Amino acid sequence: MDRRTLLKSSGLLLGGLTLGRFLTGTAHAGQTATMSVLGGIGALQAPSQAHPLLLNFNENSLGMSPLARQAIVEALPQAFRYPDAAREALIEKIARAHQLETAQISLGNGSSESIQAAVQMAVFQARKAGKAVQLVVPDPTFNYAELYASALGVTVVKVALNANLAFDIAALQQAAAGFDGVSIIYLCNPNNPTATIAPSSQLESWITSAPENSWFILDEAYAEFVTDPAFRSAIGLVKQGRKNLIVTRTFSKIYALAGLRIGYAVAHADIIAQTEAFMSLDNTNMTGAVAALASLEDRAFLANSLASTDAARKIVTTALDKLGLEYLPSQANFIFHKVPGEVKTYQQRMKEHHVFVGREFPPATGWNRLTLGTPQEMSQFVDILNTFREKGWV
Ligand SMILES: Cc1ncc(COP(=O)(O)O)c(C=O)c1O
Repeated sequence: MDRRTLLKSSGLLLGGLTLGRFLTGTAHAGQTATMSVLGGIGALQAPSQAHPLLLNFNENSLGMSPLARQAIVEALPQAFRYPDAAREALIEKIARAHQLETAQISLGNGSSESIQAAVQMAVFQARKAGKAVQLVVPDPTFNYAELYASALGVTVVKVALNANLAFDIAALQQAAAGFDGVSIIYLCNPNNPTATIAPSSQLESWITSAPENSWFILDEAYAEFVTDPAFRSAIGLVKQGRKNLIVTRTFSKIYALAGLRIGYAVAHADIIAQTEAFMSLDNTNMTGAVAALASLEDRAFLANSLASTDAARKIVTTALDKLGLEYLPSQANFIFHKVPGEVKTYQQRMKEHHVFVGREFPPATGWNRLTLGTPQEMSQFVDILNTFREKGWV
């Protein structure tokens, strides 16, 4: 189930709750944005129907950088113009940040659009060449590539994670190599929902030795959170001149701009040109572009986001250790942990306590994805989890 369907079914959209919180200025983010990471300006109010704890969509509860807010305010008087100048400036800044040419960057309306365009482009190219095409994905993983490919009538081959809930690279390779046609291989690193990384050495040796009929989408939505040295961005392969991949990144996660919809793709200039043909023109709104530009300038905010996530993770892992609940080593702003009994029941009980946690991702049954909010939010979550233990629910 994708996020929009989930929101509808959980009543969050229908109740207008999320928007209402922003309109009244009482969102948790509003309270926490002015706090230091570990300090705080006083107790966060307890989760309630009007102020639920939203730990389900891997957003950054800190809220955006103050510099980004300021940039939006300053840009608003010019918002009656098309966003070309802000767009160009952002493309240049991203290119400089990665030491790439601007022709190697494509902005997306969130990285979702970049993933969509990459899938459409690869399917179009394959069909133009008269070849069959399939999408190969690990299972479970973030499902947008699957949704966009399915809409084009493309077969999706799902390769189960191995016993450690890591990519089964050999099985993925086999699924691609055994196909008489083009394989689009979508790899999310760190993976969503597990929050674990695939060692870059393994991915790099596959991508650099892959047959011509394999083409890769590397989704690095959470790359900025990673501290494990076994991870290297696949942007390095683009820098080497490789044309068999596209890398997608987003401002929705560490930069806390999910509502402004800014993402980007990085690839060889020829691949970017082909992909751009499938992007909506003027897809970047001005407020998002200036906020992203300002966010890239705000090194302190980035450091604060990382420190906050690390502190939040520590609070959760300490609690899970105490409760004896297994979890995977998180390299992102969420954590995948075991829940005894039915995950749906656990999710429902959390909801009754005004906490929205992630869901189960079959075939990884018995596991729940939990977004790491602010340290204060995670302390509230832990308090509730501890009461669940007292009741014998976890
Ligand atoms: C792995 C992954 N990729 C891409 C996205 C889409 O992000 P956006 O479209 O906001 O950039 C998400 C959102 O949760 C995600 O988890």
